[in-house]
Formats: sequence, C-alpha cells, structure tokens
Amino acid sequence: MADQTLMDKLVSLSKRRGFIFQSAEIYGGLGSVWDYGPLGVELKKNVKDRWWRAMVHARDDIEGLDAAILMHPRVWEASGHVAGFTDPLVDCKTCKARFRADKIMDAACPQKPSKHPGEHTTCQLTEPRMFNLMFKTFMGPVEESASVVYLRPETAQGIYVNYLNVLQASRQRIPFGIAQIGKAFRNEITPGNFIFRTREFEQMEMQFFVKPGSDMDWFEFWRTVRMDWHVALGLKPEKLRWHEHAGNELAHYARAAYDIEYEFPFGWNEIEGIHNRGDFDLGRHQEYSGKKLEYFDQPTNERFLPFIVETSAGADRVTLTVMVDAYREEMVEGETRVVLGFHPSIAPIKAGIFPLVKKDGMPERADAIFHALKRRFPVFYDDAGAIGRRYRRMDEAGTPFGITVDGDTMASGTVTVRHRDSMVQERIATDQLAIYLGEQLGNAG
Ligand code: GAP
Repeated sequence: MADQTLMDKLVSLSKRRGFIFQSAEIYGGLGSVWDYGPLGVELKKNVKDRWWRAMVHARDDIEGLDAAILMHPRVWEASGHVAGFTDPLVDCKTCKARFRADKIMDAACPQKPSKHPGEHTTCQLTEPRMFNLMFKTFMGPVEESASVVYLRPETAQGIYVNYLNVLQASRQRIPFGIAQIGKAFRNEITPGNFIFRTREFEQMEMQFFVKPGSDMDWFEFWRTVRMDWHVALGLKPEKLRWHEHAGNELAHYARAAYDIEYEFPFGWNEIEGIHNRGDFDLGRHQEYSGKKLEYFDQPTNERFLPFIVETSAGADRVTLTVMVDAYREEMVEGETRVVLGFHPSIAPIKAGIFPLVKKDGMPERADAIFHALKRRFPVFYDDAGAIGRRYRRMDEAGTPFGITVDGDTMASGTVTVRHRDSMVQERIATDQLAIYLGEQLGNAG
C-alpha cells in the first residue's frame, strides 16, 4: 500500500463513515479546517477522556482548568508570542504558492515535474518575511488597535495566569500540576496532511510547577509517563520515537525539549512535546503584570519562582495518529476486510447489535438488547443486509464487538459475541451481556 494511498483511504473512509468532514463542504470547504462527524466526535472525546483520566483523575498532584480562549492582550506580549511567534514566509511570483522558508525541502513546487520550490528555472521565490501566526480580532464594536485581542495559539498561557488562583483554591503544594484541554488557533502558512496541521485545533496540555533544581528530574519523569501513555493508547511502539531539540531548535522559552514522534505515511512527525520551560513564563508574567507570582515554601521558609515542565499534545493529531495506526486491510475469504483496530476504550461504538434475520422475533429481541445496552455503552443497531456485510461495516468503524441474535437466542437466551480482531465468536447469556461488555472494556483500561 503506497503511503499517500493510505492517507487518501483514511480521508475517504472518514467522510463515508462519519469520522471527519471538510468544514462547510457545500461552500467548497475552508482551507485545512475540519469538522468531526458522529464517529469522529466520539473517537476524539474518548482520546481526551483517557488523557484527562490519566493526567487529572488518576493523580493527586494535578488539578483541571478550563480557561477562556480570549485573554488580555498583554498575556501575548509577556509570553513572547507578539514579538516572536512567527514563521518565515516565501512567495513564488510565478506559481503564487506560499511556503515556509525553513521547510522548503519538505515542500513540493506545484509545477511539474515534481521538484522542491526554487528548483525549477521558472521559480521566483521572494526573500523570506516573518509572518505572525496568531489570529487577531477586535473586542467590542470598534476596530482599533486598543481593542485587539488574539485567539490563543496555545492553552498553556491560560494556566500560567491562573497558577496562583488554582494553587490557593486547591491547597496544593509544589510540586503540582494544572491540566487543560481546549481549542487553540494558528494561522499556519502550510497546514495540511488532513487533520495533522490545521488552523483550529485542540491541545491537551499540562504544566507541572516544580522547585528550581528538581526540574530535570521531573522532565525525565514526565517523558517516561507521556511515552507510556501513547503506548497504552494502543499505538505500535515501533512507530514511536523521541526527537531531542538541539540548541538552535529550542523554542525561546525552553531549556530542554523532546518531541514524541510517530511515523506517519508522510514521515516521522511530532505528536507531543515535553518541555522544560524553567522560570521563563512565570518570570515574564510577573514582570508584565507587576504581580508577585512567587511560591512560599513553608517547611523550608523559602520563596521562589517555580520552574515549569510542560507536556503538550494535540487532541486532533493524536486522533489522526490512532486512526493511521489502527487502519489495516486483510484478505478474508477472498475479500478485502478494512479494519480500524482501535483500542476498545477509544472505539466510538463499543458493540454492534444484529438480528440474524428480520423475522421469527429476532429484530424485537435484538432491539430490546440494543436499548438495554445503550443506557451504559455507545452501541449500534443494524438489521440491513447480509450479516457478513454488517460485520464488515462495524470492522470499518472500529467496533470491537458484534452481538448477533439468532435461532439459539430464541431457544436458549444466548447471543453470539464476535471479536473484531480475531473474528472468534463465543456465546454469552443475554442477561450477562452488560457485565461481559463492562469487563471487556474495563480490562481494556
Ligand atoms: N504550549 C506548547 C506548545 O504549544 P507546540 O509544540 O507548538 O507546543 C504542542 O504544540 C502540540 O500541539 C503539538 O505536538 C501538536 O500535537 C499540537 N499542534 C500544534 N500545532 C498544531 C496544528 N497547527 N494543528 C494540529 N495540532 C497542532
């Protein structure tokens, strides 16, 4: 399977099965903006729920937050985004295409034959100019510079400016963390690869506040925890690797940084960053706001500005990663079976419920099972077409279990439970189904 073909297949499956649609498609779409359909919204929500459970509910030392997207414009001056959140942009006067100057060798010139921008004799690239990636808008009715606000390009700043509020309200002590999931916006010059790089996306970020000097130990701790999380999500370990940021690659705020990369069909790319941000952020907010942001450590009678270790993952990017990782095609009885082999805990639908035939009371029995299970699990009823086709439709949606009501159900009260990956079938008593599914999904973590 050629690599681009896999992405094309995923885009088409996403639309067909209701995972992801192009935004405002009836108007021709909006560049690199995507909408999540019925299955996609469940998948992404399950990814976010797993993150929240692991990072907030399962820990004593992390609190949750949901800060507003719009913030005081001084926040973005303090953070360095107004001055420095820029990419170098080059235009081609011949083909009118736009590229990131630092990613020219990853880009393709639209002219044929396929070459990098600047390599055709007709290419006329401009000098790079810096382009700020923040979306700007105006608060209130007057469009003047005094009322400029930005759509946040990262959720992290909402955490920094609330750090003292959360610390005091939760009575946490350092070391402790604040976690947040929310939308972020970047006016990317070269978005693309489906939902990999978009202009509107969601981040799952956690900022861990530590005593200076303990930061590198915590940095290593969080590196391990976060890599383990992706493996537990079901991603193939051999498709994951670390990329360390060398000195000249480090962001303005970072003392040390590693990316977790995944091998996509379009190459190895970042899915999460782990950063040691030192006291850059709190130092800058203290300076710009004029408010003391120091922590007083009672046991040692010390006052200090905490250092921050950040874990920052994209919810959409991780959703794309689990889709790419889960996609497989197999030959079964002379036909191609497409499977999204999701980890059961993130599968959008947990079980399909099918009457074997549309007679002999089977649809009524299957419908009763469907409605009983629906109270606890997202399940799907399907009585259309041959049973093999119905299984295939669920395989493609990534549904881990298929429950079939057949002649034996009517006689003995048991149903067939088919496992998506092995296609093994077993018989389970109807009144045990909810417990069985609960156990299977619980075991899946
Ligand atoms: N607060 C630090 C920060 O925002 P980042 O490396 O710029 O760091 C973190 O972004 C994560 O956010 C990335 O690893 C990626 O998963 C996601 N992300 C960043 N830009 C994105 C975009 N344009 N589209 C989708 N996800 C994006």
